[in-house]
Amino acid sequence: MTNTLTPSERMLAVLPDALRADASRRLATRAEPLRALLAGLYGEHADFQPWLGELMETLGTLLAARPGELRQLDAQREAQPDWFLNQRMLGYCAYVQNFGATLNGVASHIPHLQELGVSYLHLLPFLKPREGESDGGFAVADFDQVDPALGNNADLEALTGRLRGAGISLCSDFILNHVADDHVWARAARAGDAEARAMFHVFPDRAMPDRYESTLGQVFPQVAPGNFTHIAALDAWVWTTFYPYQWDLNYANPAVFAAMAATLLRLANRGIEVFRLDSTAFLWKREGTNCMNQPEAHALLQALRAVVDIAAPGVLLKAEAIVPTRELPAYFGSADAPECHIAYHSSLMAAGWAALAEDNPSLLREVIATTPALPPSASWLSYVRCHDDIGWNVLRAEAAADGSDAKARLARIAQFFSGANDSYASGAAFQSSDPNAAHGSNGMAASLAGLEKATGPQQRAAALRRLQLLHGLALSFGALPVLYMGDELAQQNDYSYTRRPQHAMDSRWLQRPPFETGRWRERLDRSRTSGAMFAQLCRLVQLRRHHDALAAAAPRTLLDGGDPAILALARGPDLLVLMNFSGQPRRFALSGRWTDCLSDRILVGDIPLEPWAMLWLERTED
Ligand code: GLC
Repeated sequence: MTNTLTPSERMLAVLPDALRADASRRLATRAEPLRALLAGLYGEHADFQPWLGELMETLGTLLAARPGELRQLDAQREAQPDWFLNQRMLGYCAYVQNFGATLNGVASHIPHLQELGVSYLHLLPFLKPREGESDGGFAVADFDQVDPALGNNADLEALTGRLRGAGISLCSDFILNHVADDHVWARAARAGDAEARAMFHVFPDRAMPDRYESTLGQVFPQVAPGNFTHIAALDAWVWTTFYPYQWDLNYANPAVFAAMAATLLRLANRGIEVFRLDSTAFLWKREGTNCMNQPEAHALLQALRAVVDIAAPGVLLKAEAIVPTRELPAYFGSADAPECHIAYHSSLMAAGWAALAEDNPSLLREVIATTPALPPSASWLSYVRCHDDIGWNVLRAEAAADGSDAKARLARIAQFFSGANDSYASGAAFQSSDPNAAHGSNGMAASLAGLEKATGPQQRAAALRRLQLLHGLALSFGALPVLYMGDELAQQNDYSYTRRPQHAMDSRWLQRPPFETGRWRERLDRSRTSGAMFAQLCRLVQLRRHHDALAAAAPRTLLDGGDPAILALARGPDLLVLMNFSGQPRRFALSGRWTDCLSDRILVGDIPLEPWAMLWLERTED
C-alpha cells in the first residue's frame, strides 16, 4: 500500500502529527532538488523510485526520533541561518585522548574552553576505530558506537548536552569516503556477501587499477604507496586511497549513499551539530582523471545537504577538501543548490606560513585577492595548524602568479619549515608523491614559528610574535577561526611518535601532543611563553567579539600601503589590521587618526612596525 505513495508522502506517513507541518514546509523546497540530484546519480537503476521512497521513509523515521531539544535548535537555526557567521564564533580542535582522555574528561575542560571564548569544539575521530593502527581514528569500524577506549554513546549524548548548555556546538568528523577493513561491510565482503562487496570498488585483476593509477595522485606515497590493495580473501584489488586498511566506498552504488546519509542523521540525533566531511574531494572516481573534485562528488554533497535540510536543519556541513583555492567555491554550492556551509581555507593557512618563510606576504596577498565571495550563509574556516601536514602544493597557482617557478618556490618554503639552512623552524618534512613537488610540513605551530630553537629572550619574543601574527590573521580574516589544541599555550613538537613503531613513519604525530596541564596552570603568568601567548590570544578573541566588521561575511579589502612586507587588511571603513611579515622594522603611512586596540595608543601618520608586529587599528575621531 505504501508503494502508491510518493517518496515525500512516505516520509510524512511515518511522522507523528506534530512534526508534519514543519516537514511538509521543508519538503516543499528541498524534496524536488533532492530527487533531481539523486536521479542524476542513480536514476538509471531500475528500482530507483522505490529506493527513493525507502530513503525518504528513513528520513522520516530519523526525524521522528530526533530529540525535542535538537528539534528546537533546528527551528532556531532555520529562523536564523546566519547564526555561525558572527564574530563571536570561535572553534577549538583536539583529540579526545589528548584532551581529557575520554569524552567525560573532555567535559571537564569546558571551563577552559569558555575562558578562551570557544563556541565550537571539533573533536577528532572518536567513533569505534579499526583494531590496531587506525590513522588516528580515521578508519572507522562502527559509526554507531563510540570508541570504547573513550567512552560510550551515553557519554557522547551527555557531552553534547553539556556543551550545548555552555553555548558550544560539537563538531565531529564524518568519514564518508572510506571505512575500516574490519567494518561490518568489509567483513561481510570478505566472507563472500555480494551486496557488501558492492559497497566497495573491487577489481578482479590489475587491469582497471593500472588504468586508474596512470592519472591518480598519491596521498601517502611513502607509508601507503598506490591506491589499490590486494585482499587475499576477495582474491581481488580494493580501492584504498589512503592507508591499505581504509577501503573507499563506492558511491555509484545507491545503497552506499542511503546508508551513509542515515548514519549521519543518527549521529546528528546524538547531538552532533557540525560534521567535518572528511576527504570530500575523493568521493567519485572517473577514469582518466585524478578522481578528485568530480561533479558527481558535488552532487552527492548537495544531496547530503538536502537530506540534512529536511531531517536535521540545525546541522552544519563542513568540507574538508584540501584543494587549490579555485576548486573550493564548488564545495559551497550556490544559493539554489547549497552544498557545505563551511570549508577549510587551506590556501590561506599555508600562505600565512609561506609569508613567514619568505619574509614577505606576496603569496598571501595573492591568495586573499583571489579568494572568491561566498554564497549567503556560508563561511570559510581559518586556522593556523591542524592535525595534518601543511600541504604547500595547493598554492601552485598563487606561487606562479608573479612569474616565479612555483615548484622551486614552494620547495624552498617547505625546506624552510623542515629546518634547512639554519631556519628558525623545527619541523619535519612529510611525504610527497611527485619528486618535483614540495613535500608537506609537520610540526606544532610554536615550533614552526621558532620557539623550540629560540635561545634567548629576544629570539623567544620574536618567535612568539610570529605565532601571534598567524593567529591574528586567522582571527581577523573573516571566517570561522579554529584554534588547534595546545597552540593557545605555545605547546611544542611531540617527538614521542618516533619511538612508537606504528607511528614512526607518519610525522603528522609531531603535532598531536597531549594537552600540557602544567602550561595551562601558568597561563596567567605573562612572564612565561605560554602565559604571554594565552594573554595575547584572549585579547585578540575579545577584540574580535566586539567588532561586527570582523564577522565572517563582513567585507574585507587589501590596502596598498607602499611597503610590500606589510599586509594591510581593512575590514570595513573603520577597522584596519596591519601585519609586518618581515624580520625587519617597517613603516606604514596611515591616513587619518587611529587607535591601536592592542595597546590603546593613538596613531597618526607614518607609523613604525617592529619585526613581525601586528596592529589592530580602529578609526578614531579627531
Ligand atoms: C583527512 C584527515 C587525515 C586522514 C585522511 C584519511 O585528510 O584529516 O588525518 O589521514 O583524511 O581519512
